[in-house]
Formats: sequence, structure tokens, C-alpha cells
Amino acid sequence: MEVMIRIAVLASGSGTNLQALIDTPDLGAEIIIVVSDRPESEALRRAERAGITTSVVPWRASGSRAEFSGAIRGEVERFEIDAVVLAGFMRILGPEMIRGYRNRIVNIHPSLLPAFPGANAVAQALEHGVKVTGVTVHFVDEEVDHGPIIAQRAVRVLADDDPESLHARIRVEEHHLYPLVVQALARGDIEVDGRIVRWT
Ligand code: GRF
Repeated sequence: MEVMIRIAVLASGSGTNLQALIDTPDLGAEIIIVVSDRPESEALRRAERAGITTSVVPWRASGSRAEFSGAIRGEVERFEIDAVVLAGFMRILGPEMIRGYRNRIVNIHPSLLPAFPGANAVAQALEHGVKVTGVTVHFVDEEVDHGPIIAQRAVRVLADDDPESLHARIRVEEHHLYPLVVQALARGDIEVDGRIVRWT
């Protein structure tokens, strides 16, 4: 597939999902910029190694969420981005940014939403005693980890799992699923009707 939509990846942490996107030969999307709120984020090093432009928008430098979100939006507009891919981005985007990019911002979350939204989803699932958890890719709306669900994969919880071992197996699924979703977005194969997402 060629297509080549222009995407921005927003990441705060280790950037293994970003790496999975970088390593997908036929992504259908060009990663134009990687933006992080944390200058020490390993995701930025991964982008640099791949020759991708990086930008740091520090949270603390902003007076408010609106200002932070406005600065992120400024970067996304400056680079004429078609879709924004959140990959371990630990900040919440403001409603103006979300409205401006309705159904063009996607997020990946390490649980089967609507179970265990928010931080520490993997530990929450373990503490709750679920036997199956997983990964969700969804469009971002004004509520945290809430928008229309694009794709999910289940991951079995093992008796001796701790948060690290379980998260490692969830990440394996994430690294398969996120590139598939980006490819489908690039092809225009994803339709949204209220909360219902259809792959066409
Ligand atoms: C992933 O598990 C993702 O689901 C969650 O944050 C983690 C990011 O991992 N939102 P990485 O930075 O891509 O390695």
C-alpha cells in the first residue's frame, strides 16, 4: 500500500509502540514528527535514530492544560498532520484540540476498555482478579480512555503474573495491532457512526 497520510506520534515513555510503527514497512503513513512532553523520553531517541523530526512540549512550561494542548496543536498544524497517534502519551489533550481533530486522534490503552481506564490499567486489572485483559485502540474523545473503540485484542492473565510480565505480553499484542489500525486509517477503511466503528 502507498497512500501516505501524514501522522504525528505523541509519546511520553519508552516508545516501543512508536518503534513498532517505525519498523512496519508498509504503514501507509509517514511519521512526520514525534512530540513528547518529556525531554528524557526514550521515544525521542528512537525517533532521532530513525531520522524523524522531534519536538518537546514540556508540561511544566505551560500554565494550564489549555496552553499545553494549544502548543501541541500548534506543532500538529505546523506540520500539516492528518492524524495524531498517541503512543504512551501520559497527558490529557484539551477539548479544543479534540474537537479540531475529531476522529483523527487515536490512542492505545493496555486493557479491554471500558474496564480499567486511566493510569495503571495493568495493575488495576491484576488487582481486580480478571482472567482475561488486553489492549484497546480507540478514537480520543473528551473523556479519558472513552472514545469509539476501533480494535481490541485479548490477553490471558497467568496465575504468576505481576504487572511487568502481564504488560510485556500486552505490549506484544499492541505492537501487532497499532500498525494494523494505522494502515486501515491510512486507507480510509475506518468509518465512525456515533460510538460504533466499522472496518469497511
Ligand atoms: C502502552 O502499554 C500503551 O498501551 C500505554 O502506554 C504504554 C506505552 O508503551 N498507553 P510504549 O511507550 O509504547 O513502550
